[in-house]
Amino acid sequence: MSDPVDVTEPHRDRRDPEGRPGPLVEISGLCKTYAGGSGTQVRACDKVDLVIEEGETVALTGPSGSGKSTLLYLLGALEQPDSGTIDVGGQRVTAMRRAELAAYRRRVGFVFQGFHLLPALTALDNVIAPVLPYRVDFDRRARARELLASVGLEDRAEFLPSKLSGGQQQRVAVARALIGDPRLILADEPTGNLDSRAGEEVLDLLTGLRERHSTTVVLATHDPDVVARCDRVVQLRDGRTA
Ligand SMILES: Nc1ncnc2c1ncn2[C@@H]1O[C@H](COP(=O)(O)OP(=O)(O)O)[C@@H](O)[C@H]1O
Ligand SMILES: [Mg+2]
Repeated sequence: MSDPVDVTEPHRDRRDPEGRPGPLVEISGLCKTYAGGSGTQVRACDKVDLVIEEGETVALTGPSGSGKSTLLYLLGALEQPDSGTIDVGGQRVTAMRRAELAAYRRRVGFVFQGFHLLPALTALDNVIAPVLPYRVDFDRRARARELLASVGLEDRAEFLPSKLSGGQQQRVAVARALIGDPRLILADEPTGNLDSRAGEEVLDLLTGLRERHSTTVVLATHDPDVVARCDRVVQLRDGRTA
């Protein structure tokens, strides 16, 4: 595996002199174009400017194809923009090189619509997986057990994903996203495959992060009930913010 990188560095304190948290994310002029069919170009992200405060829970909403996932992937550095800048925690993500990008991605928690758990690993081992290759200053198994308990699954630690309901799998995915103590969680339609009760539980966990850890959450959703629970809504259309 790759070189051991310390993922335990403390969060930089970005509070202003009056103790207010400053912006965690500053996006400026962000553009991403994909090649569409028959030589056309799709502007999936079109001159997006967006500032997100530390501890905010922001909903990205808009019709299918409006660029919600693209913006999350750019923010998580899973995709590279054509132009524009992204600063997170005062660091320019869009100027980072490979090793820095890898370290940055490990400080971001991802939750996807389809859970993306590794089917051959237990719930506990899925939670541990993101930090397994790296040097950390905590006991991985103990932290993973705590996180599973915090999502109400302490008695499911040794279960394979196939033995868990969709809602339980997504709660494992939330625990997994938290193992690296991220200050930013990116969630792409996290309740999209869940019934309303299971979706509500996952949403309680994601919005509860703000109260407990002042984690910043950016999530893409179609669901008006999810939007209503967020601090702010960013409406996207054709890759642009409204
Ligand atoms: N890897 C890709 N290759 C080509 N086109 C893509 C790719 N990813 C996204 N797109 C296009 O970019 C636009 C925005 O997509 P997306 O960000 O997935 O929107 P949303 O998540 O809001 O449904 C769509 O027109 C989509 O077809
Ligand atoms: Mg999408």
